[in-house]
Amino acid sequence: MLSISEPTLVLWMHIVAACIWIGGQVTVAAFIPLLRRHPDLARRVGRRYQAVAWPAFAVLMVTGVVNVGNAGLHWSQLLDSPAGRTLVVKLVLVALSGIAASVHSFLQAPRRGRASGGSAVGSAVLGSISLIAALLAALYGVALAGA
Ligand code: HEM
Repeated sequence: MLSISEPTLVLWMHIVAACIWIGGQVTVAAFIPLLRRHPDLARRVGRRYQAVAWPAFAVLMVTGVVNVGNAGLHWSQLLDSPAGRTLVVKLVLVALSGIAASVHSFLQAPRRGRASGGSAVGSAVLGSISLIAALLAALYGVALAGA
């Protein structure tokens, strides 16, 4: 039987966190429209989701940094190799996913709650940007793992 090494364990945590970050967004996107007539419940579902999603995003950051070392990549030479450049693109996508989710979670959705601004379209756009960017980041992650 193969042994479970430290890099394997960290990569496993990275993948589980990615599943939570991406899978949670898909699940919320599927359910929130059903709760349109129950804004209070929709808000509570959103808050519960955030309580799970942001810790998963933090795990992605920490395990991602460890993965970089385990994959033999060096921060100071990222632009010198195809794998390093792939990581740079991936990090731009990770930043985009995190920023879009932050704007939605901490600025746009709370304004909707107070009925003084923000829109369902705004939520859908920000949620889509965050999800698509995370999916592409995962694709580049798989490319990196296979390199
Ligand atoms: C939205 C955030 C992220 C998602 C969805 C994500 C997703 C993934 C996935 C699915 C893999 C493939 C694992 C495999 O096929 O075995 C992966 C690998 C990887 N990720 Fe991420 N990741 C994210 C953030 C990060 C961050 C912030 C970093 C660096 C700081 C990072 C660095 C890496 C590296 C270096 C690998 C390759 C590991 C290896 O070669 O074994 N990831 N990622």
